[in-house]
Amino acid sequence: MEILGIDVGFGFTKAYNGKNSVIFKSLIGDATDIQFRSSLGEDTSTSSLHISLDGKSYFLGNYAELQSSITEYTLDQEKLIEDFVKIMAVTAAGICSDTEGPLNVVTGLPVGFLKRDSRRFKEVIKGVHEISFHSADGSHTTRQIHIDKIHVIPQPIGSIFNLIFDEFGKIKDKNLARQKLGVVDIGFKTTDFSIFDHLQYIERGSSTMDTGISKCFSVIANKLRQESGVNIELYRIFKFIESGMVKIKGREYNITNLKKRVYTHAASAIASDLNRLWENDWDMDTIILSGGGSIPLAEYLSPLVDGNVIPIKKNIDARFNNVQGYCKFGHYKWGGSVQESKPKPSEKPASPDSPDKAPPSPPPSEPGDSQNRNGQAKGLAWLRRQNKS
Ligand SMILES: Nc1ncnc2c1ncn2[C@@H]1O[C@H](COP(=O)(O)OP(=O)(O)OP(=O)(O)O)[C@@H](O)[C@H]1O
Ligand SMILES: [Mg+2]
Repeated sequence: MEILGIDVGFGFTKAYNGKNSVIFKSLIGDATDIQFRSSLGEDTSTSSLHISLDGKSYFLGNYAELQSSITEYTLDQEKLIEDFVKIMAVTAAGICSDTEGPLNVVTGLPVGFLKRDSRRFKEVIKGVHEISFHSADGSHTTRQIHIDKIHVIPQPIGSIFNLIFDEFGKIKDKNLARQKLGVVDIGFKTTDFSIFDHLQYIERGSSTMDTGISKCFSVIANKLRQESGVNIELYRIFKFIESGMVKIKGREYNITNLKKRVYTHAASAIASDLNRLWENDWDMDTIILSGGGSIPLAEYLSPLVDGNVIPIKKNIDARFNNVQGYCKFGHYKWGGSVQESKPKPSEKPASPDSPDKAPPSPPPSEPGDSQNRNGQAKGLAWLRRQNKS
């Protein structure tokens, strides 16, 4: 039984099965007929993601941004569940997973929507889906994705599980497992706060706020609109935010100072939410900053937070913290073999402590699994982002 973590975020969809990982923008576009393709430029990973599902064809992620006439992203939870989750989750599973057999999925919802949306989320992705992946040469590969069991957890807890568990779902960091931990997961739309005390989820200190990076991007887009008259969609800002330079209609705009100001403002909003929410949790041992937004915001946020904040590691992509934790939790919950996992260099080596949980028993081997692995699924290898080893 293959176990897969899937994280459909407002900014990026991520999946991880212990071996393969995939990430693409949560952006949907119409599949247009491309009459001329140049073979120059990169064609790796998810750069030309064209799929068909339920009789409709879509371009997704960067490919939609580049080639579609109409692109859609959302910052609305309801719309995310209704219109995005199925397409994003099944596509991510199709790229990441190696098996045609049933998959067990662990996924997450923002803390504030866990109760309301868990059931609907499960209904939307459960069952057998047929998805086609189209290649540039006109050929396609069709796969059946069978999502069997689904477990939904609060999103930021994934980041804690990622630190506590090893790939087999065994506790590798007993010290952390015994602590009272707070996690701040800064995403594209939401910032989620959560407390985990001696491996217990504490509802009281867990909450979702609308202080993700998209708010910063909105301020930048407004300013650029005032100066250039051009309306820039938020998902196009990723491209130039790091360099701080953007060229609009031939004119260069330097947004470095503006970026610093909006990040400083966002960090202080998050810090004041955190200090209010965790006012009585002065006994917190460790605070973990996570989510992709923690990469640009950590330097502004850390000094404003009273407590033992674990510094962000420079060599990992914090957007994957939750989804890797989901997968590890899946192994804790269901056992199962790990997909020939190679430990990532970015991860701490397993603690020499003996695990708190008995090693999960291996599942009965699934006939045909290896055949699938070497067969049809192989055609999708170009779409995968293998972990650097
Ligand atoms: N290489 C990168 N490319 C793009 N964005 C990045 C990168 N590294 C960090 N980021 C930051 O990551 C953020 C997205 O993080 P993440 O994937 O955790 O959000 P999300 O899970 O999609 O959003 P939400 O949790 O609100 O649903 C971006 O807004 C950006 O600030
Ligand atoms: Mg997220």
